[in-house]
Order: sequence, then C-alpha cells, then structure tokens
Amino acid sequence: MSDTIIEVRDLVKHFPVRVGVLFKRVVGHVRAVDGVSFDLKRGETLGVVGESGCGKSTLAQVLMRLEPATSGSATFEGRNMLTMKGSELRKLRRDIQIVLQDPYTSLNPRMTVGDIVGEPFEIHPEVAPKGSRAQKVRELLDVVGLNPEHINRYPHQFSGGQRQRIGIARALALRPKVIVCDEPVSALDVSIQAQVMNLLGDLQTEFGLSYVFIAHDLSVVRHLSDRVAVMYLGKIVEVGTEEEIYEHPTHPYTQALLSAVPVPDPELRDQRQVIRLEGDVPSPVDPPSGCRFRTRCWKARDICATEVPELVTRVGNHPSACHFAEEKSVVP
Ligand SMILES: Nc1ncnc2c1ncn2[C@@H]1O[C@H](COP(=O)(O)OP(=O)(O)OP(=O)(O)O)[C@@H](O)[C@H]1O
Ligand SMILES: [Mg+2]
Repeated sequence: MSDTIIEVRDLVKHFPVRVGVLFKRVVGHVRAVDGVSFDLKRGETLGVVGESGCGKSTLAQVLMRLEPATSGSATFEGRNMLTMKGSELRKLRRDIQIVLQDPYTSLNPRMTVGDIVGEPFEIHPEVAPKGSRAQKVRELLDVVGLNPEHINRYPHQFSGGQRQRIGIARALALRPKVIVCDEPVSALDVSIQAQVMNLLGDLQTEFGLSYVFIAHDLSVVRHLSDRVAVMYLGKIVEVGTEEEIYEHPTHPYTQALLSAVPVPDPELRDQRQVIRLEGDVPSPVDPPSGCRFRTRCWKARDICATEVPELVTRVGNHPSACHFAEEKSVVP
C-alpha cells in the first residue's frame, strides 16, 4: 500500500460573482482556492494554516465532495476522488469525514446524542445492522470520553467541549481513514482546546487516522502536526515539517504569523521582534499580480509584481513560494 493517501495537484475552486436581479451576470470570480498541491501521508497530520478567507474551508469542502472543483486533480488511495460516482463515492463518503468548527450550530438541537452519533449508520447500514447500533453508539461515546449513559440527552445539555466530542464520535462512526478537522477547537475555551486536541491525538494513534487539520493560528496546530502548509489568498506559500516551519521558516508571511504567536516566557517575549503586517488581506476576486503577498511584504521588489513565485525549495530543505526566501528564526 502506498504511503500517500490523498494527493492533490493544482486544485482550483472559483466561485462566480453575480450581479443583476433577473439576468444574473457573472462579473468575476472569487479565487478561493487557486492552484493548491499537497500530499497527505497515511497516519500523518497535515496542518493547514492561514488568515480568515484564505480558502481553508473551501479546500475542505472540495475534498469532502461538498463542492465541485473548478480544475485540478485529487486522488484518494490512487483513485480520482473528484469524479467518483455511485458505490465508489459512497465508499469515499465513509472513508473521509469532517469535524466542523462550531459545536453549537453543527449539531441538530432536536436530535438526541444517540441519534446524532448513529445517523451515519442510517446512511450506511452496511456498517452496523440495526440491532447493534445503540451498542455501537455507546462505544463511540465512551471512546471520545463521554458517558454512554447520556445517549438520550440533547446537545444543549452538554458543554462546548463535550459537544465537540459528540461531533468527533459521529465522525468516527463509519471508521474513516481520513478526518478533515476544520478549526475544531477555535470556538472553545483555551483550557478545553488542549483536551480536545489530546483526544484527537489519541484517536489518531488508536485508529491509524490521517488528519487534515485546519486552523487560523500556527500555535494551535504545532503539537499535533507532522507537516504544516501555510496558505495565503488561495495558495500554499510554504510547506514543511513541523520543525522546518517553526524553527526555519523561509517565507515572510510564515515569519510574520510566527512572530504573532504568543510567547509565555516574558524574557523571550522581550527579545522577539514582532513583524506587523501592513494593511488587510486583498480581495480574492482581484488578487495582486505576481506574488499575492507582495502588497504586505517588506521584502517586495519589482519582480514580485510580475512573476508568480513557484512553490519550490530555494533555501533549506522545504518549498517556499518567495523569490527572496530566506531562513529566519522568529521564535527564540
Ligand atoms: N459558496 C461561496 N460562494 C462565494 N464565495 C465563497 C463561498 N464560500 C467561500 N467563499 C469565499 O471564498 C473565500 C475563501 O473562503 P473560505 O471560507 O474557504 O476561507 P477560510 O480560510 O476557511 O476562512 P475562515 O478562517 O474565516 O474560516 C472567501 O473570500 C469567501 O468569501
Ligand atoms: Mg473556514
């Protein structure tokens, strides 16, 4: 078996922008995901990090086959996952699950926890015959650290962290190979975040899962990620192992994000130079020419406006999409 489970190449997802009341005219496109390539290895966690609107959730939606891709390719265990139909697509929908950010709105308030966690069995009855479902749901609740006796309670009777555990139990029900975690802890208190992250880590080991782990913040994904991809305006600007990204970042955007990560030690904090990014993220409808980061980059020169920097290894051991990639340790 190949050690790559998902292979994505030049993936593009554009949303048309329409105006007009009756005859809706397409006046442009939101270039939400604009040429993304990466591999997900079996059993690894790939962190995907970037500011709001850079295309993280859109990438997740395309991988989940909830949105069609505009172009590009993606394979799951070597087979084209973007065109699968019928029984092959049904199997894919078992193999890849998603955990969403908001445990308050992603669970149906009128369904009991048992019904929520067991719902995937209704859609895929082959996984668990009817008579065995309640027992399976109890086991799933136990696996995620919830009391199996609470199977008949409703979502509002649980805390935020517990609700996220319900979402995780549901994602596990069909014994998936990959879980896409779209900011699963962003809505939770910091003290609860670590517990949920630890649970996800334990489940990964227990079930041999591969994760695509989406977050805003580099500090959130560090502990769990084997590799990290940094996104900016629909593109991956730097990708590398946990050590390469956090200890030897080469893209100015990654360096700026790292410089904003809170450092608890006051002495180290004083030593550190914080890089403040000027301005807002430009619109993905009309991104800057050349390098998309150039309008906020302190290194930008003429070439950055005319030539798109390819994601290739220029310095060190990992790829970075910057004409002037340079190793710079940010966190002392
Ligand atoms: N269905 C849609 N139709 C039109 N535009 C969309 C749609 N979904 C997302 N977008 C746009 O695509 C861009 C990327 O959005 P996306 O939700 O993927 O970003 P994100 O990185 O997940 O952001 P956040 O961190 O806020 O969750 C944004 O400009 C967003 O407005
Ligand atoms: Mg999102």
